[in-house]
Amino acid sequence: MTKKRETWKSHWGMIAAMIGTAIGLGNIWRFPYLCGKYGGASFLIPYIILLFGIAIFAMMCEWVLGRHTKREPLGAFDKIKFPFGRDIGAWGVIGPFFLYSYYIVITSWVIFFIFASFEGLYFGKDTEVYFSSFLGSKWIFLVHFIAVCLTSGILAMGVQKGIERACKVMIPTLFVLLIIVAIRSVTLPGAGEGIEFYMRPRWGGLLNVETWIAALGQVFFTLSLGMGAMLIYGSYMKDEWGIPMNALSVTLGNTSASILAGFAIFPAAFALGFGRVIGSAESIGLTFFVLPKVFEVMPGGHLFGGIFFILLAFGAISSAISIQEPAIAWLKDEVGWSRKQSAIFTGIILWIMGLPFIFNGFVRGGIGEKLALLSKMDIIIAQLAIPVFGIIAIIAVGYFMKNRGFDEMNKNARVKLSHTWLKPWIKATVPVFIALLFILSLLKILQDNGIIPIVIPASQGVKFVSIGITPMTILAIIFICLIFWGGFIYSTVKVLTIEKDKKGRVSRGLHHSR
Ligand code: PHE
Repeated sequence: MTKKRETWKSHWGMIAAMIGTAIGLGNIWRFPYLCGKYGGASFLIPYIILLFGIAIFAMMCEWVLGRHTKREPLGAFDKIKFPFGRDIGAWGVIGPFFLYSYYIVITSWVIFFIFASFEGLYFGKDTEVYFSSFLGSKWIFLVHFIAVCLTSGILAMGVQKGIERACKVMIPTLFVLLIIVAIRSVTLPGAGEGIEFYMRPRWGGLLNVETWIAALGQVFFTLSLGMGAMLIYGSYMKDEWGIPMNALSVTLGNTSASILAGFAIFPAAFALGFGRVIGSAESIGLTFFVLPKVFEVMPGGHLFGGIFFILLAFGAISSAISIQEPAIAWLKDEVGWSRKQSAIFTGIILWIMGLPFIFNGFVRGGIGEKLALLSKMDIIIAQLAIPVFGIIAIIAVGYFMKNRGFDEMNKNARVKLSHTWLKPWIKATVPVFIALLFILSLLKILQDNGIIPIVIPASQGVKFVSIGITPMTILAIIFICLIFWGGFIYSTVKVLTIEKDKKGRVSRGLHHSR
């Protein structure tokens, strides 16, 4: 291969693209829904532990695989001579189809809410009923079609880089709007109960296996792992960018969006009368009926809501294109189709694959029944499929690339990870932990579907008694916010100055990268 692989031109461009794929519905729809279901802070704690203890390492392993081999998933596993490498890598092409099939349906809800907000369609209505009836309306077909055409069109024209560039503006703006919504939400009368729910852990919930299984799925999902996306993005990474600090920066940036989303949703949910929904089957639509209610009580809510959903649509679409991209890259590179052909072909298949989730919306019953199929698929993808590929990527780096893998991880990194702990961590702790939770998750899914008898006791549900906001709660909030937002800004500024430094040295002839 003499052809030089395309890389991101600027370091900031890379971070923006990574955050573009990572930030999306996982932060604003999936995180609040699961966090609510598993008891607020009782979910937040396992989530943070798994994020920094497990998922960030899995992400670094995917980057290492991509950057070292400079290939897409199939080629990457093949190149490092992983047994059945091509078959395993094929998952990185097939798996995303299943993820995309329902991810785009949720993206289409966002698109609908752009119009619904500008037009004020849900204002003054019961937003839960409104959302439920939208799921069974003709509009859903239209917006779903628009969403599939958007991602396929962007990929057909090869302008996804343009979207990534746009994300540099859109995602930070989404942050700012999220902060405004969060401020509105926490200052609503009656918000205290929600803040407390979100910030005060209940030990019962923490000891619940189900919470940990769900948190594992979420940390992988939110960092776009296990789908080939991060592996491909890693392959565009320049050698001179150190992996550990960048991984930290992307993880912190992504997590701060999720945490903010929690502040935007829980206080408002309790204040606006949706407290009873949290934890129920209907809560899968939480974001889509709590946020509209918040916009309703904001000055200029139509406009604000519309802009908010536009930005969220950007986040969702930039993630969706990274999910559709591997299949297109494969058809183009291996089957020899043109980009346009590949985009149209995958677009048609993906559109068809989304239809069952839409038809499900026409059944009688509540939001839980209308989204039953989507919720099942989501569990299978996030809790089974994604961790499996994640574990394979970790084994590939830990056992097949051996020192090459660990060296690649530390290559040109200013902050190096010591092999003394890194090796046992990646070779043993991380895979064992994922495997354990994976097995429990599989048992749980089998038992829930009546295939095996009950082995994991059912969760007790979230019992919650409000005691009002305590100084401890406030302290916890300030502490968590400072760590995440401060950490993100610090690490991003740090990697960017290191980069500048290096460039300076290169131009003064002091440093040659290889
Ligand atoms: N991380 C994305 C989100 O949170 C979803 C995603 C998962 C994208 C896997 C690519 C691969 O919305």
